[in-house]
Amino acid sequence: MNNKIVIANWKMKLSLAETLELAKKMKNKFKGFSGSEVVICPNSLSLIEVGKIIKGGPLKLGAQNVFWEDRGAYTGEISPSMLKEAGCEYVIIGHSERRKYLLENYEMIHQEFKAVLGVEGLTPIVCVGEEAEERKTDRRDFVLVDQLQQALGGINLLGDQRVIVAYEPIWAIGSGVAIEPEEAEYAHKIIKISLRDMFGMKVVKNNFRIIYGGSISSKNVKEFTNLEGVDGLLVGGASLDAGEFYKIAKAI
Ligand code: 13P
Repeated sequence: MNNKIVIANWKMKLSLAETLELAKKMKNKFKGFSGSEVVICPNSLSLIEVGKIIKGGPLKLGAQNVFWEDRGAYTGEISPSMLKEAGCEYVIIGHSERRKYLLENYEMIHQEFKAVLGVEGLTPIVCVGEEAEERKTDRRDFVLVDQLQQALGGINLLGDQRVIVAYEPIWAIGSGVAIEPEEAEYAHKIIKISLRDMFGMKVVKNNFRIIYGGSISSKNVKEFTNLEGVDGLLVGGASLDAGEFYKIAKAI
């Protein structure tokens, strides 16, 4: 897939009122925007209202989490088809913050991935990334391959099913220090090779995008825009300011 994508992950950083206010600012800022695809992922409670605000413009809606069953006694959960009903086109799966605080593991992430693929028009954004310790011991390649195999293994994609893999080195998230661009390029290469092993060259070319996340800002975005194999960005902190996020989206 050729067109680049930039995704705002607002995490749980805003109140409901602040979320709607920022959505309105984004809508105005991105009026008439063309170029990369731009997605906003607010908290679950605000999805429907944010969807109404951005409707008709270039911004798309994404969720930060999803459950793997479609319906049933699963207190507190939200299904892929509900996200679709709410207007979502994307959903983040297996973010490292959920793996850390909610103890999500790759078995769960695999089930979520499968469930999302079952809903037409909803694209999974599957997060992978190593810990600082794993990087130091040169285990990163193995960690990434292992995470990808656990999350995506054993699944055949149909022709039009799109997938985004987000490489987010855990140590770079929220630290203010992004990875060195060459290091990102290298990790993206490992991910691509691994995906090719699992899905074949053609499927990887047509159905997958591999994006980077971790301390991206308008100051460092230029270093990541022309990297080989980097198809877009997943932005946390810097997406909480409409002007800053616009600069990032403009740059890629
Ligand atoms: P920061 O951009 O704040 O480092 O967050 C990255 C991230 O976790 C996006 O999902």
